[in-house]
Amino acid sequence: MLFSNKMDNFRVSKTAEIADLALSLKEKGHTIINMASGELSLKPALTVRREACNVINKGDTLYTQVAGLNKLRDLISEKLKKDLNIKYKTDEIIVSNGGKQVIFNAMQGTLNRGDEVIIVSPYWVSYPEIVKLCGGTPKILYSKRKEGFSINTERLEKLITSKTKWLILNSPNNPTGTVYSHKNLKNLIHVLSKYPDIFILSDDIYEKLNFSFRKNTNIINLDKNLKKRTLIVNGFSKGYCMTGWRLGYGAGPKALIDAMAKIQSQSTSAANTIAQHAAIKALELDYAYFEEIKNTLIKRRTIVTSALSDLDGFRSNFSQGAFYLFPSIKKFLGKRLIGHDKILNDISFCKQLLSSEHVATVPGSSFGSKDSIRLSYALSEKDLRIGCKRIKQFCARLE
Ligand SMILES: Cc1ncc(COP(=O)(O)O)c(C=O)c1O
Repeated sequence: MLFSNKMDNFRVSKTAEIADLALSLKEKGHTIINMASGELSLKPALTVRREACNVINKGDTLYTQVAGLNKLRDLISEKLKKDLNIKYKTDEIIVSNGGKQVIFNAMQGTLNRGDEVIIVSPYWVSYPEIVKLCGGTPKILYSKRKEGFSINTERLEKLITSKTKWLILNSPNNPTGTVYSHKNLKNLIHVLSKYPDIFILSDDIYEKLNFSFRKNTNIINLDKNLKKRTLIVNGFSKGYCMTGWRLGYGAGPKALIDAMAKIQSQSTSAANTIAQHAAIKALELDYAYFEEIKNTLIKRRTIVTSALSDLDGFRSNFSQGAFYLFPSIKKFLGKRLIGHDKILNDISFCKQLLSSEHVATVPGSSFGSKDSIRLSYALSEKDLRIGCKRIKQFCARLE
C-alpha cells in the first residue's frame, strides 16, 4: 500500500509511546496512577444519562440535520447569549463529533496550501497536526513561563505575514491551565485590529472550568467587531464530563459554518443522535452543577500543589483553569536513577517516572514546550495523593 504524501507530514501523538508503556505495566498487574489523562473522573449528570437511555428505548435514533438538531442549536444559541452575552442565530451554529471535528472542519474549509495558522505554545497537541493535515503551515508563537504563559503581542506581530489566516486561542489553556487576562486580550485586540483578514479560533472547551472568574471571557466580549471573524469552539467533553459522547459545537459567521457543514456532510454526517438529545438535557444543568465540579477540582489542585510545593526545582505556574499543571523539570535533566540511563529530556523523565514509580504524565514536548511535563489533577483525591508521593520519591532518588 502506498500512502499519501500528507502522511509524512504529520505525526501520531508522541504520548502514544508513554500510553503503550502504561498499558503494558497495567497488564503485568501494576497499579498505574494516570496523571496523563485529559478527562474528568466524574460521571455525566444523571439527567443526561437517563435521557440517552430514553432516546435509545424509544428508538428515536435516525440521522439528524447535518449541522445538528435545530432544537439543540437553538439551545446552544441561548447558552451563548446567557454565558457570553453574544447572539448567534441557529444557522450560525454547527454541532460536530467533538470539539476536535469542529476545528478540523474549520481548517479543512478555509486553508489553502501554504496558508499560515498562528498557534500559541504550549498548545493542545492536535492543533498543529490538524493544520498540517488540512494543507496549512503552523507558525508557533512561544509563550513563556516567566511571562505567565501570556501572549506576547510583540512576538505575535513579528509572526504575522500576508499568508496568516488564523490565530488559535485557548483559554483556560491545555496544558498550562492559564486563563488570559483582560489586559492581555486587549493588547491582542490592538494588534488584531491592524490585520482585519486574520480569523480567530477561540477554543473555549474548558470554559466551565475557569477558577479565576465566575464566567469565562471570550475575546468578542472585549471587542464586538471581532464577531464577524471569530469561530467559537466549545463542547460537552470537559465541563459536562461527556468526553466519550463526542459532541462539540462551533459558532461563527454563517458562510464559515455553511462551509464546515458541507465538509461534515461528506465525512461523518451529523453527530450521534443519542448524544445530541442528551446534550439538550445537559444544557439544562445550572450554575450549581458547575460550581460543584469547580470546587471539586480546586480541592484536587490544592492537594497536588501543596504536596509538591517543597519539591525543589519542580516549578509550576499556578493553574487558573482546566485541570492541568505544567511544571518545569529542567532541574532534573542530566540526573539519573541508579542503574538507569541519564534523563536527557522530558520524554525520558516521563518514561522513567512511569517505569519506576508507575505514574503516567505527559512530556511537555508533545505540547511544543520541552523541559516541562503535564500533570492532570482530574483524578480522585486518593490517586492524586499516591501520585504526588511517588513523584516526590522519584525525584528524591535522582542523582
Ligand atoms: C484544548 C482542547 N481543545 C479541543 C479538545 C477536543 O475536545 P473533544 O473531546 O470535544 O473533541 C480538547 C480535548 O482534549 C482540548 O484539550
